[in-house]
Amino acid sequence: CGIVGYVGSQSALDVVLAGLKRLEYRGYDSAGVAVLADGSLAAAKKAGKLANLEKELVDRPLPAGATGIGHTRWATHGGPTDTNAHPHLDNAGRVAVVHNGIIENFAALREELAGRGHVLASETDTEVVSHLLAEEYSASGDLAEAMRLVCRRLEGAFTLVAAHADEPDVVVGARRNSPLVVGVGEGEAFLASDVSAFIAHTRSAIELGQDQVVELRRDGVTVTDFDGRPADVRHYHVDWDASAAEKGGYDYFMLKEIAEQPKAVADTLLGRIGAEGQLTLDELRIPPQVLRMVDKVVIVACGTAFHAGLIAKYAIEHWTRIPCEVELASEFRYRDPILDARSLVIAISQSGETMDTLMALRHAREQGATVLAICNTNGSTIPRESDAVLYTHAGPEVAVASTKAFLTQLVACYLVALYLGQVRGTKWADEILAVVRDLARIGEEVERVLETMEPVRELARSLAAHDTVLFLGRHVGYPVALEGALKLKELAYMHAEGFAAGELKHGPIALIEPGLPVVVVVPSPRGRSVLHDKIVSNIQEIRARGARTIVIAEEGDEAVVPYADHLVRVPATPTLLQPLVATVPLQVFACELATARGNEVDQPRNLAKSVTVE
Ligand code: G6P
Repeated sequence: CGIVGYVGSQSALDVVLAGLKRLEYRGYDSAGVAVLADGSLAAAKKAGKLANLEKELVDRPLPAGATGIGHTRWATHGGPTDTNAHPHLDNAGRVAVVHNGIIENFAALREELAGRGHVLASETDTEVVSHLLAEEYSASGDLAEAMRLVCRRLEGAFTLVAAHADEPDVVVGARRNSPLVVGVGEGEAFLASDVSAFIAHTRSAIELGQDQVVELRRDGVTVTDFDGRPADVRHYHVDWDASAAEKGGYDYFMLKEIAEQPKAVADTLLGRIGAEGQLTLDELRIPPQVLRMVDKVVIVACGTAFHAGLIAKYAIEHWTRIPCEVELASEFRYRDPILDARSLVIAISQSGETMDTLMALRHAREQGATVLAICNTNGSTIPRESDAVLYTHAGPEVAVASTKAFLTQLVACYLVALYLGQVRGTKWADEILAVVRDLARIGEEVERVLETMEPVRELARSLAAHDTVLFLGRHVGYPVALEGALKLKELAYMHAEGFAAGELKHGPIALIEPGLPVVVVVPSPRGRSVLHDKIVSNIQEIRARGARTIVIAEEGDEAVVPYADHLVRVPATPTLLQPLVATVPLQVFACELATARGNEVDQPRNLAKSVTVE
């Protein structure tokens, strides 16, 4: 969910709505706002996108005020209805609360409140907080103190932001696990789930830590822990360009982000490759002697980041000879994984806030493992809780379906694999140097792919009426196939599945029927030619059964030509780097299919960009 709070002299409603617009990627199944004006509190909330709320505010305007809070929701407890939307008020309508996360003991608290005569209107876990706050406020007359007392009673992960009609110039926030940042302006202050909500107003930010409460006033902010002790906070300057978060002439953020990939890739490499081809990852802060001791690498991630991890395994094991496992973060800690001080756990996350990934890394650290984050969001929770971080420099990614972040995650994974190889000294030293040189040029290759995408878009449009598309790959092409299928599910709402091409004959081949589109990612015929020849046989097998083959193959690969109904060319790269170019046509394909099917590209149904619940 996305949260915004404001205290200052501007129209709170305008500031909060503009902030929510920036945060809509975090959830968009309902939205709401509350403003303090003339000693009372006025709220509006609506199921559906922010636009529904904006329309409601035109029909039924709120009084003008300079203190306000807002929320855009991704439903957990209670469906996306007007009633379940935030903010939630107490029975007297004096206090309003917005919340991100899950309050695990809400059922017991709800019962307790009902026993004291409170009437709870919604099915949400959040509403208990507004009632508890109202009670504590009538005892203490201090909203920040009331918030601290309430937080001490809550279990689970949460960010809360509240305002009270009796304290018209105050907004209070609390943070446990879910993200919350403070923006400090001249005579105004902001609270938000991430800085994009307030960078139009200020670039001076404060990172809130775990279990902290912040009180926002026009003339400053006060941060304490849940017991009221003053807390240490980190001030920082936000250097993201505000315009980077705008669409910049493209119809969708996703198109813009696909187009930004060459730059994102180049930015992620910047300063990390020396003149002699040696890697300098000083920021890693893990001493080389620790890296030399590592006897196992475990990668944890979710969604698209998980696919980057699957590809990283091939690179890490090949270049370093260290065994590497890749696991879905949501599964990881529940199976009692074997970790110790010689394990290196790599947590990959664009947002740095994915709760499943955060919980997995906490578990890893408890077992004594060293945790390295690969992350795109400076100052987010996952890098803060890791031993070291390698930032991907993709810039803000707004479209829910990840594109440029994925490519930069791949680059970061290759850098880590090559660096481990360099530090530990393997027999691949020459190959490593050669690959680093190829990697340094890869942004240009991605650019070349982007220049030739029109036939892919045309093909996508011609497939708009199909229900199913299959994706096949081998070796690193297998995770690429999984990513291609994920993109199509997310965006086109089509049945799309990725398979290891060798597994085809063990089951999935039964799905092939005349006319079924099957995308095949073909590895380079140079290098490991056996791999290449095997997949050419697989293409023949499916084509013999009537499949319509869409073949992604390297320039100059003539062997695939007779079996390709549609041929998509990508530049020749070393085998392990091919995902950097082969994924791009699949992103374009999914984006165009979504458009052709009339779907929302940037905000697909039921999804959120950053899932901060487990
Ligand atoms: C959500 C998004 C996916 C993303 C995944 C992991 O489910 O919809 O696109 O891949 O989270 O996100 P992260 O921020 O951890 O990379």
